[in-house]
Amino acid sequence: MIVDFRAIIVRNQTRVTAELIASAPHLQVIGRAGAGLDNIDLDAASSAGIVIAYTPEQNAVSVAELTMGMMLALARKIVPADRSTKAGNWERRESTGIELYGKTLGLVGLGRIGYRVGARAKAFGMSMVAHDLYANPDAFTVSELSARMTDLDELLGVADFVSCHVPLTSATLGLFNYEMFCKMRSTAYFINTSRGEVVDEQALVRALKEKRIAGAGLDVRQEEPPEKGPLSEMDNVILTPHIGAFTKEGQGRVVSSVCRDVAAILEGGEAKNYFNLPKPKRM
Ligand code: MLT
Repeated sequence: MIVDFRAIIVRNQTRVTAELIASAPHLQVIGRAGAGLDNIDLDAASSAGIVIAYTPEQNAVSVAELTMGMMLALARKIVPADRSTKAGNWERRESTGIELYGKTLGLVGLGRIGYRVGARAKAFGMSMVAHDLYANPDAFTVSELSARMTDLDELLGVADFVSCHVPLTSATLGLFNYEMFCKMRSTAYFINTSRGEVVDEQALVRALKEKRIAGAGLDVRQEEPPEKGPLSEMDNVILTPHIGAFTKEGQGRVVSSVCRDVAAILEGGEAKNYFNLPKPKRM
């Protein structure tokens, strides 16, 4: 179908493979309406001279706000309290939670989203430890958050909440395995609003069953949509259907940015938000 296309715009479910790219000799731009680029063969697109226009931070606030929502919901048991109250109960003692105030947030990934989560958590009186292989320790994100940069093992050992904000790469695939969960505090919560494949879900289920961690909030899953499984049965787990970026404002920014950049390329101009090249090398 794409043999004559000069542009395609995708979200995260369409896999733009080397094979697909090879079957589109006129393709000049791949617009990705989102931040993650794990569904696109970046090398194949770049070596064909095709621009990858994407939206690296247009939905970052939305994802950060969902992450805060997950932290608050887990800390205050909002979801089970809601279910129980709607069922006619009045369970105040069972619904006793913890405050975010004074707790330590471990940010795994201190990029555009991790930083925004930290900024909001700071306003709640949390202190920050962060791990990021690529962050400059002198960057404003580190000093603004008063974040202590540390290695992953130490972060997992001190954080009350561990929130994951890394892209999916060969280095992060399956990063959170059983061993990692065992390094967390048994009172700590794990939140993932990045990519599901960063977590070994079976390991997470085991860690939750063995009470090695206190609970989890997952917006993203190893398989999307996932099969119904043990996570769906756990009261200390919150599951949402990859909606981190799904706000009116976030989607508005994403759509207008990617469409503007794709239109610019088709009219012979340059993209503003691109991964590899501002202009296509093939005309
Ligand atoms: C993103 O990568 O921007 C979000 O996960 C949303 C999406 O993939 O569309």
